[in-house]
Amino acid sequence: MANLFLLSMATSQKNLNVYTILMLGLLMIMSLHSTVGEVGVCYGRLGKKLPCPKKVVSLYKKNNIKKMRLYDPHQPTLRALGGADIELMVGIPETDLQHLAQCQCHANAWVAGNISAYPDVKFRCIAVGNEINPSSSPYSSFVFPAMQNIYRAICNAGLGNQITVSTSIKTDVLEKSSPPKDGEFRSNVTGYMKPIVEFLRDTNAPLLVNVYPYFAYMNDMKNISLSFALLQRNSGVVLGGVYYDNLFYAILDAVYAAMERILDPSSLSVSQVSVPTPSVTVSETGHSSRGGGKPESDGEGDGDASTVENARIYNNNLMRIVKKGTPKRPDSLIETYIFAMFDENEKPGPEYEKHFGIFLPNGKRKYRLRFY
Ligand SMILES: *[C@@H]1O[C@H](CO)[C@@H](O)[C@H](O)[C@H]1NC(C)=O
Ligand SMILES: *[C@@H]1O[C@H](CO)[C@@H](O)[C@H](O)[C@H]1NC(C)=O
Ligand SMILES: *[C@@H]1O[C@H](CO)[C@@H](O)[C@H](O)[C@H]1NC(C)=O
Repeated sequence: MANLFLLSMATSQKNLNVYTILMLGLLMIMSLHSTVGEVGVCYGRLGKKLPCPKKVVSLYKKNNIKKMRLYDPHQPTLRALGGADIELMVGIPETDLQHLAQCQCHANAWVAGNISAYPDVKFRCIAVGNEINPSSSPYSSFVFPAMQNIYRAICNAGLGNQITVSTSIKTDVLEKSSPPKDGEFRSNVTGYMKPIVEFLRDTNAPLLVNVYPYFAYMNDMKNISLSFALLQRNSGVVLGGVYYDNLFYAILDAVYAAMERILDPSSLSVSQVSVPTPSVTVSETGHSSRGGGKPESDGEGDGDASTVENARIYNNNLMRIVKKGTPKRPDSLIETYIFAMFDENEKPGPEYEKHFGIFLPNGKRKYRLRFY
């Protein structure tokens, strides 16, 4: 806003038309980026007794949630989203990747049937695969060719300026993440990550990263304080000479450093050099409210961090910190999606996986959380 004010001061005496054109340009730029700092929510559907898509979409609207991540192009949800002011990140399930990688024609059909068929849905991004393990998943070799085919299909459909094409990764592809400036991909995934990161850079798309300070804390309670993991004010630490307010920023900067290294290995020696990289969109983050934590027997005492209160604290702090950038990318707001809308009792895995929801199935909030 300060810049706008200066601009209007400087031009008030001059030609009104120039001023108007400048303002229009600014407004256009602002409207393109206006939703970046707004936090979205992942709509996972692996639960019994969840409300129907229509009700879910009204719940988003009622709570001023302007962005949704959906894990597959679920037709009833796409229909319910028609005409809504909700931007959508939609996923492609891993089991479809081989088919999409095999032929441009398959990708064209996918886009025609799942994207172009819904002209009044505000698609923003397509996530080609979620948390695919580069070294052990049978689908990993199809991710990059499927991304390329889907990208070309999006361009062929005339949507290249509107919709980005990316994939969503887990942070365990990092060999090293602390201090953040030493962030590095594991040597056995660089062959997988490098073409993807270059492709994202060249197509101006973000890398999607699922970021969980919650799991980092659970795996290393000795070195990470709970308040740092819950993004509390004044819980910062100095890591590699840089002050970090919270663990979320530290994880993001480790990903940025890893991308810089993969794009320009010479940046290894000059740590202050900033190599242009794709931006990071946080495609999942959150805190479980039940069923987790290391047992007290490790002597650290902290016990179970998975409480409703901690989930409330984490997600409320998240709302605040994504309105700023990280130390490495101070000027960019952080596009972020909270995991998840509801608890999902049919999710496989440990109990804590089932309790990330911020709403109860009846539409009430599990704890106070405001979207703005
Ligand atoms: C739409 O997407 C689903 C899930 O990826 C896929 O199975 C289906 O084949 C797609 N539709 C078309 C017409 O390709
Ligand atoms: C890659 O490295 C990780 C961790 O070091 C290991 O778990 C995984 O098995 C490795 N994959 C291959 C294909 O070597
Ligand atoms: C974690 O703390 C232990 C001592 O409690 C220390 O030996 C270890 O180096 C630390 N690890 C990291 C990654 O800081």
